[in-house]
Amino acid sequence: MNIITKLTETVTFIKTKTKIKPRVGVILGSGLGHFVQHMKVETHIPFGEIPHFIPPTVDGHSGNLILGSIDDVEIVVLQGRLHYYEGHSMEVVTFPTRVMASLGIEILIVTNSAGGYGEGMKAGDFMLIEDHINMMGTNPLMGPNIKELGPRFPDMTQAYDRELLQMAERIFRSQKTFCHKGVYVGVTGPTYETPSEIKMFKSLGGKAVGMSTVPEVIAANHMGLRVAAVSCITNLAAGITENKLNHEEVTLVAKQVEQQFCSFLKEFVLKV
Ligand code: HPA
Repeated sequence: MNIITKLTETVTFIKTKTKIKPRVGVILGSGLGHFVQHMKVETHIPFGEIPHFIPPTVDGHSGNLILGSIDDVEIVVLQGRLHYYEGHSMEVVTFPTRVMASLGIEILIVTNSAGGYGEGMKAGDFMLIEDHINMMGTNPLMGPNIKELGPRFPDMTQAYDRELLQMAERIFRSQKTFCHKGVYVGVTGPTYETPSEIKMFKSLGGKAVGMSTVPEVIAANHMGLRVAAVSCITNLAAGITENKLNHEEVTLVAKQVEQQFCSFLKEFVLKV
């Protein structure tokens, strides 16, 4: 079945369950799913019940599509996401993003947890993503272009919208939450990086590394969405400290900053 048919079936299914017409979409990363408690939920659908969605396999990712509002802003939220390292094709990984775009969102806010290696970074910091480097060795738009979705050669000079970035910075400042700004390097995982890989990413101008976001941001740009993205720096990257990395630490730190993160996100959704 081609992707347009799949998208049509999925969007038709979702529209039978909701009256919400979302303008903003949000993807919640590891340990950041509690944001939904800050919204008025109208519809909550587990990924497993949505045609052509696949339930996530990672701890800390619940896998729900949620429609609702914050004040009078109607939003759609992915609580959990699919990763390339789970063995899914890029088409599967980006499908939920394409569904949100097909539901009519204009703005996509992507969140993730990431390892940090920028100057002065520490676990629990935030970083607004200014740009990315795709180190996944593939691209979700490979293969025949689906012209109904977007152009063959999408421009990526402002993959992360400057106005949204400035707005996000102002909100962090007004909430007295420090945030870094920098380049996110997207890798496949599932191994964490070697210290030498982190040295290389640093020499390339990166400040954070993670196993998500890049595919979704590419698919969103292809479909003409304005994108903003924020990383929760859950740990210092490999070799920056002597500590070994583990997923439990990542989800624990994300939980510790969740309140600050939710305050930011709520304000951001209201302002965009
Ligand atoms: N590397 C890659 N992905 C991550 C990390 C990391 O150190 N922390 C959280 N996600």
